Amino acid sequence: MEFRDKVVIITGAGGGIGRAIAKKIASNGAKLTLVDISETNLRETASQLGLGEENYLIQVTDVSKEEQVKFYVDETIRKFGKVDVFINNAGVEGKVASIVETNASDLDFVLNVNVKGVYYGLKHVMPHMMSNKYGSIVNTASVAGFIGSPGLAPYIASKHAVLGLTKTAALEGAAFNIRVNAICPGPVDNRMMRSIEEGAAPGNGDAVKKNFEVSIPLGRYATNEECADLIYFLASDEAKYITGQAIRVDGGMGAK
Ligand SMILES: NC(=O)c1ccc[n+]([C@@H]2O[C@H](COP(=O)([O-])OP(=O)(O)OC[C@H]3O[C@@H](n4cnc5c(N)ncnc54)[C@H](O)[C@@H]3O)[C@@H](O)[C@H]2O)c1
Repeated sequence: MEFRDKVVIITGAGGGIGRAIAKKIASNGAKLTLVDISETNLRETASQLGLGEENYLIQVTDVSKEEQVKFYVDETIRKFGKVDVFINNAGVEGKVASIVETNASDLDFVLNVNVKGVYYGLKHVMPHMMSNKYGSIVNTASVAGFIGSPGLAPYIASKHAVLGLTKTAALEGAAFNIRVNAICPGPVDNRMMRSIEEGAAPGNGDAVKKNFEVSIPLGRYATNEECADLIYFLASDEAKYITGQAIRVDGGMGAK
């Protein structure tokens, strides 16, 4: 029961990776605040946790809106009294198109969720961790934080920014015993990759998937659960001397 009596906020908790980490952490004793823009998906996640209502909170939130982010943090404090772990995971892929085919609103959409959403979360969660002199934050970045990829400029830019926020927050949090790390998945077998595959070759997403898979040394996409395993480790006290890191869960892509 690694997370017994720990209070954990998870954003993007209605999605593939967010649901997987919510289930893993809930079965290890935590109280959870589940945050997502989709109420239906949040309720589905909550129904799979096996927790009583006293042990979780659902917050339908657009993380790109600062007042809504402040609200989910305030509600967590009101219900549970503290935040020990923050899994800053909500994200969008945006449109698949080259830079010359995109416009400022395509860029804004992705940066608002993936960068401002992560920043607002750090800004409003960290003060509560600072006053407790304890906290572990895991931001979900991507291998897209290290490399370029044709057709995904806003997403690539956003994940590079998440790594910059991770390192800076780690340095600012260290004196308060707050650790901040990022996970960097390669392609994960879930909704987001289906959207990217279809966006890259409408009607021919399967071929895009096969091309991605041959470029991955382990020969396949990650599962949501394999990403959750890394988040779980970084969030836990097992990782108590690890901070400011961007750790890949990418089937070996980074070795090439
Ligand atoms: N799927 C992949 O291949 C992959 C690879 C690397 C990194 N990631 C990252 O993992 C994270 C989780 O994505 P996923 O793979 O589980 O995909 P997903 O689409 O299943 O989950 C993303 C979740 O974020 C939520 N969300 C989107 N916009 C939001 C907003 N404005 N406010 C609140 N919630 C919002 C969605 O409703 C969804 O539930 C994202 O940050 C994503 O960029 C995914």
